[in-house]
Amino acid sequence: MALEGHRGVFITFEGVEGSGKSTQASRLAEALAERGHDVTLTREPGGTPLGERLRQILLDLGERGMTQEAELFLYLASRSEHVASVVEPALSRGGVVIADRFGDASVAYQGGGRSLGAALVERLNEVATRRVKPDVTFLLDLDPGTGLSRLSRRGSGEKDRIESEEVAFHERVRDTYLRSAEREPERFVVLDGALDADSLARLVMAEIDKLLESRRKG
Ligand code: TMP
Repeated sequence: MALEGHRGVFITFEGVEGSGKSTQASRLAEALAERGHDVTLTREPGGTPLGERLRQILLDLGERGMTQEAELFLYLASRSEHVASVVEPALSRGGVVIADRFGDASVAYQGGGRSLGAALVERLNEVATRRVKPDVTFLLDLDPGTGLSRLSRRGSGEKDRIESEEVAFHERVRDTYLRSAEREPERFVVLDGALDADSLARLVMAEIDKLLESRRKG
C-alpha cells in the first residue's frame, strides 16, 4: 500500500451527505496528533484559499444553473490546488494527511449523481491529482434518506446546492461509491454509517493501526 514517491500516509473519508465522515476525520486527526504524528486535516472542495472560494461558489444555491461540466471542472480545480499546495508537501515531509473527501467524491457525485460517467471523471482526476492516490479510503455507507434527515435534525440551516438535489441523485452517489469500493477493495474500507460515532472511531483506528504497523515493517 506504499505510495510511490511519498513517505507519508494519505487517508480519505467519503460518503453521502450526513454520513458522519467529517466527525470521523476530525476524531482520527486528533487521535493521531495526540500520538505525535504530523497530521494535516483538510477537506474538498477547499483546503486552500482558492479552494475555499471555489467551495463557496459550488455550494451556493444561487449557482443552480451551472452546467454539470462547469461543476466538475470547479471541483477538479479545487483538487489540483489542494494536491499541489497541501497534500503533496505534507506527504513528502512524511506527514499523515486526512482529507474529508477527495477524488472519489467527483466519481460518485459528478460521475454517478450527475451521470457524467465514472470513467471520464477518473481520467480527469488523474490530471488533477497528479496521480496521488489515498493509501486508505473510509467509505461511510448510509442510506441517503437517513443522512439527509440527520442534516435537517442538526438544523444546519438551509440546504446547499448539492444537498438540495433530489433523493434519486443521492442514491446514484451512494451506488457509485459502492461500485468504486468494489473495484478497489485493497484501498477502500466500507463501514456502516448507521453505527454510532464511538464504534466507527474504533473501527477506523483499528484499520489505521494495521496500516501504520505494515509501514513500520515495510
Ligand atoms: P461536504 O458535504 O463534505 O462538505 O462536501 C461538499 C459538497 O460537495 C457535498 O455535497 C459533496 C460535493 N462534492 C462533489 O459533488 N464533488 C466533489 O468532488 C467533492 C469533493 C464534493
